[in-house]
Amino acid sequence: MAPVQNPQVIFNEIPSGYPDPNRTTILSTNTSSPTSPNPIDLDSTPLNGSILVKVLYLSADPYMRGKMRPKEVESYSPAYDLGKPIYGYGVGKVVRSEHKDFAKGEYVTSLIMDHAHYWIPPTSALAPPSVRKFTPESGLPLSVYVGSAGMPGRTAYVAWNTYIGSPESSSTSPSRAAHEIFHRKPNQVAFVSAGAGPVGSFVIQLAKRAGMKVIASAGSEDKLKLCKEMGADVVFNYKKEDTNEVLKKEGPIDVYWDNVGGPTLDAAIGNAALHARVIVCGFISEYNGAQGQEYKVCSSPSFVLMSLLLFSSPTHFSPSLSPTPQNLISILTQRIQIYGFLVFDHENPAPDAPSRQLPPSVIDRSTALSDEFDTVVPKWLAKGEMKFKEDVDGLEKGGLKRVGEALLEVQKGGNLGKKVVQVAKDD
Ligand SMILES: NC(=O)c1ccc[n+]([C@@H]2O[C@H](COP(=O)([O-])OP(=O)(O)OC[C@H]3O[C@@H](n4cnc5c(N)ncnc54)[C@H](OP(=O)(O)O)[C@@H]3O)[C@@H](O)[C@H]2O)c1
Repeated sequence: MAPVQNPQVIFNEIPSGYPDPNRTTILSTNTSSPTSPNPIDLDSTPLNGSILVKVLYLSADPYMRGKMRPKEVESYSPAYDLGKPIYGYGVGKVVRSEHKDFAKGEYVTSLIMDHAHYWIPPTSALAPPSVRKFTPESGLPLSVYVGSAGMPGRTAYVAWNTYIGSPESSSTSPSRAAHEIFHRKPNQVAFVSAGAGPVGSFVIQLAKRAGMKVIASAGSEDKLKLCKEMGADVVFNYKKEDTNEVLKKEGPIDVYWDNVGGPTLDAAIGNAALHARVIVCGFISEYNGAQGQEYKVCSSPSFVLMSLLLFSSPTHFSPSLSPTPQNLISILTQRIQIYGFLVFDHENPAPDAPSRQLPPSVIDRSTALSDEFDTVVPKWLAKGEMKFKEDVDGLEKGGLKRVGEALLEVQKGGNLGKKVVQVAKDD
């Protein structure tokens, strides 16, 4: 067969605020990389023991903004290489295989799929979680495997069951006594921010299953409706209503699932019940801001005065005169437990990942939860026992051309449900 073009989305420029769909990433037809050769002969391009994947769906995830940074700035996930294809979660189909574990026609998901039409993963990545084979659950769209049946769903499922769990799961809790006190509390209240996204809507449903009253926030009327459909009891638009006032009226809250950080996290801490738990899952309020403009939690005038007296340079201490309450003391008075969670530690634990520093029993539990997710959740979703909402840009929207816009939409809130871009037909 004659070689075909293999267009790819290239990381072109580091953004200073929101990613620009025409500059930050560009669709290229004249670049080539070892993992997405261009042009490519589907029958004869050497695979060197790997597989050739036709890319079907690509996920637009908030964390991808964090990879659009200078190489020298360290973070939990490597920066994208300028001039090379961006990569992330995707669903594809094996077109040709030189690897014993994969056969033509099988479906794969991956967390490092190139944003291209065709992708050849490195052979070292040909195992879960980097490349995972799956058999689609009957009736479940393939795109859901980057949403509620994929990374965002896994995030909600593993973190909830690790840090909230059930009364019976006390042996898996970081602190058995705290766990028992927490679960003895009746009529618990959970608050979920960014409740209409794939993570938030999954968490709303887990909290309802646990018998909690659920408060959810989002930034538009359509999203509030969606939060209600997912089971939330109280919904509010954080752009129009004061989060602090809503939580004061509807709380105090026993669980806060934080997808946004900043003033919302501050308000949640200030309205926490005794022995509350906070899962810090995302901080999207700061993904697109300039360095130094992060939300400052300290605001009381006496604190500012004290810092001015104690420090020759007050900016060293970054006091802010914002009118938000000074809530951090509630961590002490309410004995709040705050957990930072990254799904990468659980689905792809590198030898130096924080999860690897934990006792083997905890690692085993985390691996078991992740495996349990793969067995249980696609079936729940297919049967309608767990709801999901997708926002898929179909082929008519331009395929790979849409990727830049989709990445911007999830940062600005233009998506309604899990944002996915279709790249090719499954034929
Ligand atoms: N820790 C982990 O392992 C892990 C894994 C997956 C996702 N996450 C994080 O979880 C969060 C939700 O992810 P998702 O995939 O479900 O995303 P999503 O809800 O589909 O998209 C992100 C949403 O955040 C909202 N948002 C943007 N700026 C905001 C701000 N300043 N304040 C409040 N809300 C804002 C927008 O909705 P509005 O219209 O409501 O503003 C936007 O639609 C993200 O922070 C993500 O980074 C973490």
